[in-house]
Amino acid sequence: MFRSERKTLKLFKFKKEEENIELDMERIPKHIAIIMDGNGRWAKARKLPRTMGHRAGMKTIKTIVREAGELGVGYLTLYAFSTENWKRPSEEVSALMDLVVEFIDKELNELHENGVILNSIGDISKLPEKARKSIEAAKRKTKNNKGLTLNIALNYGGRDEIVKGVKEIASLVSEGKLKIEDINEKEISNHLYTKNMPDPDMIIRPSGELRVSNYLLWQSAYSEFWFSNINWPDFQAKDLRNAIADYQKRNRRFGGV
Ligand code: FPP
Repeated sequence: MFRSERKTLKLFKFKKEEENIELDMERIPKHIAIIMDGNGRWAKARKLPRTMGHRAGMKTIKTIVREAGELGVGYLTLYAFSTENWKRPSEEVSALMDLVVEFIDKELNELHENGVILNSIGDISKLPEKARKSIEAAKRKTKNNKGLTLNIALNYGGRDEIVKGVKEIASLVSEGKLKIEDINEKEISNHLYTKNMPDPDMIIRPSGELRVSNYLLWQSAYSEFWFSNINWPDFQAKDLRNAIADYQKRNRRFGGV
């Protein structure tokens, strides 16, 4: 069933035998962010090298992007490489960068045909040239699309992003282009990588870890968190639907009553 057909049904019940997940198609989160965790443990459990876990995790990306698009999610932000991940062995870092290039090489046409806008958040200037060029070309190609925005967080850190924003704002003040009294939450949001995007409604972290890990620190002020023990390579479309179903049961008060 395509997104437009599903949208006509207020409540869409997934009919598969093993599932009984009811989603309110009018309350699908606009922005879902995911910490794609557990690739290493998935590989270890199978006596495979860690990089095979990342490769399996790349396949999950395809499934989840497709499902999010069909459900009508507007923004999907995936944590692929943090500012701290440079501490990993150089072979693993290289393998991850190569996977980003491979993912774009293999998937860009299909993503483009489906109207996906491929975007990155984080400081990609520090990435190996091949990865940086591939991401920049993908961004250029898809920038006028109208579908799901897929943000890949690469060399991303929430603190690093805030430091960058503070420096930009301080420069504007010192150049006389911005008054201190005009610095407000909106102004700060405008100096983050997620400028003009809604804050994540929900942050999903699989693999059993219960941490934020420097992800979207400013933007997650009122995000709903959803944790599960499933490792990212085993994460399926039904797990995304389950997360959304749980999200829809929550009462978001944003500090009110
Ligand atoms: C965390 O699991 C995962 C990462 C740091 C990398 C995620 C990358 C991918 C899924 C594939 C490459 C990305 C793209 C966009 C194609 P971990 O390795 O920390 O797992 P562990 O905690 O079990 O060791």
